[in-house]
Amino acid sequence: PRTIYLTMHGESEMNVQQRIGGNSSLSPAGKAYTEALVQYITNEKIQDLIVWTSQMEQTISTAANINAPKEQWKALNGIHAGIFEGLTYREVAENYSEEFAARGRSKYYYRYPGGESYHDLVARLEPVIMELERAENLLVITHKSVIRCILAYFLDKNPEQLPYIKVPLHTVIKLTPMAYGCMMGRIPLSV
Ligand code: F6P
Repeated sequence: PRTIYLTMHGESEMNVQQRIGGNSSLSPAGKAYTEALVQYITNEKIQDLIVWTSQMEQTISTAANINAPKEQWKALNGIHAGIFEGLTYREVAENYSEEFAARGRSKYYYRYPGGESYHDLVARLEPVIMELERAENLLVITHKSVIRCILAYFLDKNPEQLPYIKVPLHTVIKLTPMAYGCMMGRIPLSV
């Protein structure tokens, strides 16, 4: 059976500062992850591997050293936080407390002002999911919010659960779709 490898980009400078969204370069630990990922992928000896990234710097840099054909998808960009892009969660909580509370009440349907909700993101990902269903062996390097949506699709999670699925940094998620359901493994790589 074919395998879908999913991972977040390596830790970005914005992750370090706990800023939301954005296009960002990798932190030193994030750069170390790009090396660990090359090692891991090489050891897996995957046939005809193709790598998909988003169009953001942190995923493109994470893929840079992997020796396989690559495709960039705008649809794989992380959830767009609208006017909150680049702010910290703390800044949002302090300066936009009603918005912050609204997101806490309904994280799946909450739409960032000028941006997206998880519900919007699921709709945006529909063509990607269609291609994921058809593709052979694949490594998808994307963002936490997008990985949650892909996992929810393959593992049948409901909208209440989706925005809370744990997606740790520097971990490869290995999905093997079967006739009914899907096998999943999580492989943390040390950086
Ligand atoms: O903080 C990193 C990040 O990937 C943000 O860019 C993104 O908006 C967020 O996580 C998604 O997590 P949550 O929806 O739980 O805020």
